[in-house]
Amino acid sequence: MIASDTMFDIERTGSSRLTEVDFENLPFGRVFSDHMFVMDFKDGEWQKGKIVPFQNLSLNPATSVIHYGQSIFEGMKAFRGKDQHIFVFRPDRNIKRFNLSAERMCMPKVDPDVFREALSQLLNLDKDWVPPQNDASLYIRPFMFATDEYIGVKPSETYRFMIFTCPVRRYYTGDVKVRVETRYARSVKGGTGFAKAAGNYAGALYPAKLAQEDGYQQLIWTDAVEHKYIEESGTMNIVFRSGNTIFTPPTSETILNGVTRDSVLQLARDWGYNVEERRVEVEEVLHLLKEEKLHEAFGAGTAATIAPISTIGFEGSDYELPPFDGWEFAQKAAAALDGIKKGMVEDTHGWNVRFV
Ligand code: COI
Repeated sequence: MIASDTMFDIERTGSSRLTEVDFENLPFGRVFSDHMFVMDFKDGEWQKGKIVPFQNLSLNPATSVIHYGQSIFEGMKAFRGKDQHIFVFRPDRNIKRFNLSAERMCMPKVDPDVFREALSQLLNLDKDWVPPQNDASLYIRPFMFATDEYIGVKPSETYRFMIFTCPVRRYYTGDVKVRVETRYARSVKGGTGFAKAAGNYAGALYPAKLAQEDGYQQLIWTDAVEHKYIEESGTMNIVFRSGNTIFTPPTSETILNGVTRDSVLQLARDWGYNVEERRVEVEEVLHLLKEEKLHEAFGAGTAATIAPISTIGFEGSDYELPPFDGWEFAQKAAAALDGIKKGMVEDTHGWNVRFV
């Protein structure tokens, strides 16, 4: 059935896949909800968007994105909170960052009101896909890619903006063993590191694979010039605690301005920690590890929320962190964030936005 409101056309699926889903066993990012949002950009403007059953795309082999990678994305999460209402955590920050990424990649911006409305209608249609379990959520993947059917190198004149969603549970299970990367770089000054551009992730795969072959799950990225300063960890921001001080590299041209990072730092300030956003030298972290004064180190990102680091490898030596069970900050922050998202902890900063 095709319906039309003033903003979007809506074609509902005739056969929901919801009953086939095992919500107790959800591999991350492999189960997709019934519908998706699609909106095309052509002739210099966005066309009317539509919601259609989740389905494959059909692309001309010359489609620009396949060759030159003009592609950006976001990751957000929806939760089933109080009275079965559906909330999204700080969506406006993701929408803003999406448009920053679009600008850097020479792509058109999406009107934040249209973005929010698309999300709202999609979540309304697929609200039953938001899992109820405490550790579960509906991961939201908005993305945009170049659709010109042309293999000359220039910004595309046409684009597609889409949103689909996936019910998910944990991204990582257990602690993460990471290695400090001293040869390859994720991003450089003047580059695209602050943007959520698909190519950033592609370029990171090879160094991560090398680390995985040596028994690490992920990397700690360092600056591209001297490999002296810590930047991020894997696909996440990185946060450390030593005593009462929480410290993390400042966001910059080379570091993604993470929503979870910002939320964790705000909680730390609320709880009276000394929060430092400053350059963090690899040497400083190694020194603290050797002195047993590095009490916590974790990745902060939407997918995992908080991913505790158990081991940091550097030039052939492994340094262990204390067991996660005893960490005072990350555990409390993870519980607080989960509680806020699920409506069980007071949302004093107004982070949750009700969509359904
Ligand atoms: C995140 O940590 O939220 C990410 O960006 C990971 C995502 C690419 C799956």
